[in-house]
Amino acid sequence: MNLNQRRRFWEPLIDEGLQKIPTPFYVFSSHPIEQALADLKAVETNLGIPARHWLSFKTQPLRPLLGWWRHRGGGVEVVSEFEFRAALAEGFVAEQILVNGPAKHRWLHRHEVRNLRVNFDSAAEVRELLPMALKLDWRLGIRFFTSEEFDPEAPDWPTQFGFAPDEAIDILKSLQRAGARVETAHFHLRTNVASPEIYHRAIQEIAETCRKAGFTPKFLDCGGGLPPPDVRSRSGKAYDAEFNLEKFGKMLGLAVSEFPYLEELWLENGRFISARSGVLVVRVLDVKERRGLRQLVCDGGRTMNALISTWEAHELFVMPRRAGKQCLTTVYGPTCMAFDQLTRRSLPRSIEPGDHLVWMDAGAYHLPWETRFSHGLAAVLWHDGNHISIAREAEQFDQWWGQWK
Ligand SMILES: Cc1ncc(COP(=O)(O)O)c(C=O)c1O
Repeated sequence: MNLNQRRRFWEPLIDEGLQKIPTPFYVFSSHPIEQALADLKAVETNLGIPARHWLSFKTQPLRPLLGWWRHRGGGVEVVSEFEFRAALAEGFVAEQILVNGPAKHRWLHRHEVRNLRVNFDSAAEVRELLPMALKLDWRLGIRFFTSEEFDPEAPDWPTQFGFAPDEAIDILKSLQRAGARVETAHFHLRTNVASPEIYHRAIQEIAETCRKAGFTPKFLDCGGGLPPPDVRSRSGKAYDAEFNLEKFGKMLGLAVSEFPYLEELWLENGRFISARSGVLVVRVLDVKERRGLRQLVCDGGRTMNALISTWEAHELFVMPRRAGKQCLTTVYGPTCMAFDQLTRRSLPRSIEPGDHLVWMDAGAYHLPWETRFSHGLAAVLWHDGNHISIAREAEQFDQWWGQWK
């Protein structure tokens, strides 16, 4: 969908939202998620085995989304006790919950759930949780650390996740010796992986490690990391510029043949599935102009609602539609931080207080990174494909201040 089509999709939902509640608010919809899943069909066609998409809970911890996903029969990937408990509370059964993430031994021992799917991240986890895994017949996997992974802010250094090849061989052998039900080879490279080749190299490395360990996984869990459409870095480069989904699918098809007993390929994409599924709506409160820059101060912005704008540039449109001469404009939130800038770009000079600005692609890593800087949390609207409803009211003063003893 191009920007105009996407805009036409969101405008009526936002109009309806504006009649229900004041800004700032997010609107999320299941419809773009259906589209993302349809796009992923291109990945599945060459596999020869089924693909399973786990919902990445942390990316978009939105209650009605969980219900909607469960209704479709999908499973959820969780990385913390809160997420795990929320998944159970929403009615997901063990078979539909995949437990990932580091330091699970801190909390998972509190939950005696049979047949859980758990991907171990460290030797300490295995030491502390293996007796429980055996007793409760957990379906296990391990997360591999590959040479494709590095700290994105300091690429000379590794990340903290998973087992390096030698450790992986040792742990796989000891799990197999213990009679554990080890089924899954898991990796997650990072977010916004630039090209399919990077996945390919990681998978080849994992296949080699599995061969050395005598381990034949039933499931290859490739994590998330696919770059979403329409999102750019602040320097203007589209994250998906070099990512071709068909090529990715062909590569996965080849990769699958490296694992002779593979039954399913798993993906846990967060951004790709949900980034497009939401918008943030803010209202212009004040306008200033200085040194050739027009400044719009709004009731929501980066600090409270869209920390991701620190490094990502998203499309933005105005309601009502404004035309005419454009000028360099910065959009600010209402907090006392110069950092609180949603975007700086050319926008129509005709925008005025009371207008609404819509920050697109707010469906991934906005809700989980919201802040309460000077203000409460924003309201949330959910569109289930047919109806729009309030999923969360804006936080009130008593909730904000009343949390203190
Ligand atoms: C294990 C795991 N799976 C999936 C994801 C989702 O990543 P993305 O949103 O980049 O697809 C993450 C993100 O951190 C992750 O850690």
